[in-house]
Amino acid sequence: MPKLKALYVCQQCGAQSIKWAGRCPGCSLWNTLVEEIVEPASPTSTRAIDAEAPTRLADVSLEDAVRVLTGLGEFDRVLGGGIVPGSVTLVGGEPGIGKSTLLLSVAGGLASSGHPVLYVSGEESLRQTKLRATRLGLSASDVQLLAQTQLEPIIETVKQLKPQVVIIDSIQVIETEALHSAPGSVGQVRACAYELVRLMKESRSALFLVGHVTKDGFLAGPKVLEHLVDTVLYFEGEATSGFRLLRSTKNRFGATYELGVFHMTAEGLVEVSNPSELFLSDRTDAVPGCMVTVTLEGSRPLLVEVQTLTSPCGMGLPRRRTTGVDFNRLSMLLAVLERRVGLHLLAQQDVFASSLGGVRLLEPAADLAIAISIASSLKERPASRQDLAVGEVGLTGEIRPVTNISQRIHEAKRVGFQRCFVAAQRGGIHAVDGIEVVPVRDVREAVQQALGT
Ligand SMILES: Nc1ncnc2c1ncn2[C@@H]1O[C@H](COP(=O)(O)OP(=O)(O)OP(=O)(O)O)[C@@H](O)[C@H]1O
Ligand SMILES: [Mg+2]
Repeated sequence: MPKLKALYVCQQCGAQSIKWAGRCPGCSLWNTLVEEIVEPASPTSTRAIDAEAPTRLADVSLEDAVRVLTGLGEFDRVLGGGIVPGSVTLVGGEPGIGKSTLLLSVAGGLASSGHPVLYVSGEESLRQTKLRATRLGLSASDVQLLAQTQLEPIIETVKQLKPQVVIIDSIQVIETEALHSAPGSVGQVRACAYELVRLMKESRSALFLVGHVTKDGFLAGPKVLEHLVDTVLYFEGEATSGFRLLRSTKNRFGATYELGVFHMTAEGLVEVSNPSELFLSDRTDAVPGCMVTVTLEGSRPLLVEVQTLTSPCGMGLPRRRTTGVDFNRLSMLLAVLERRVGLHLLAQQDVFASSLGGVRLLEPAADLAIAISIASSLKERPASRQDLAVGEVGLTGEIRPVTNISQRIHEAKRVGFQRCFVAAQRGGIHAVDGIEVVPVRDVREAVQQALGT
């Protein structure tokens, strides 16, 4: 591979410099120079993908676009029905959550159904990978392993072996000799990912890149990495619970926010194909501070129990702690309950809110259940275990309707709930046999009905 020229380029104004400087010589902003490969424009070289003569859309062939199934049903579902040839997928997750375990299982599944796979381990030795494979029952697998962190030999190996699927664990440790900066730096991550993406579009292999996430839960490295790839998956879960959730937040070939559920065991990841009751507690007696909601994760309804504890805080600033529940959403709901329902929460109560299993409740549809659970804890009055609530709470305390309400109600009925609080709608609510659907206009009315006050 010819040696490429590296320069420091300002991310704001595009000014170039041969030396790194804290301050950009062009726009005078601080800390904007990033090392990048700068290639001289050549009239003969073409870098675009499929850069041939224009083709009529009707004439574009889809013959080789048949999806490849990994054998892990939950993984295939999140991808939108299997791996698309030539696609690039980024798999992010916190340290130790099980990214390598997941992708090694995928590699094993693919190899056992005759698909050539290359697993590039940049973080662990071949021995370590073999130990994990033995634990997962894949020790006799045909997966090709490569322990390498240099980009150039990886590209050579891919060209030589022509695998159908390439897995790189992780992109943050891969470096190209064209740049001098350390692996994991913005320039390195971007340059390596760009080269790999280009290689995949040419070779029609599918690529999985493992990416680290920062403390805030975002993928480390440049945001451009997420733009560069076709699909972004997050692997998440509570470190203490064995459940792991795989979510897609971007997918060029399928629905986003699809959810796959796994259980981490000593033998590796086991799929949970019917998770809808997984995040409900087993207790049958009614206790204050609990309410169930139905969130929709992609096409899959999931029943999740919200638990809240309020406790008088005495002097000092009241504390707020959340797990799974969005912190800002909780603050807003506390203010609405104080102002619209007259509950004294803001200055006088510590509030702890969590979802069972730490499932992240991203949808505003969970608002009503959180609000009822707070009121229930404060008033020391339990809601019935047969009740659940679905609805967004507005700033005036009104309950707003949410999408796909009938799918959610049907799921609640299937699991055995008897009463569901939903937003009142002008046309009325579509009744569902076997479950009482109670329309509520505002949060005060919902709290009164749910707690019988
Ligand atoms: N012998 C074992 N029995 C049960 N679970 C294990 C065992 N060994 C590892 N694990 C599980 O696997 C997890 C580590 O998985 P893995 O190495 O795939 O994570 P990772 O996301 O790739 O981590 P890193 O960010 O360090 O690369 C551990 O947190 C643990 O839950
Ligand atoms: Mg790993």
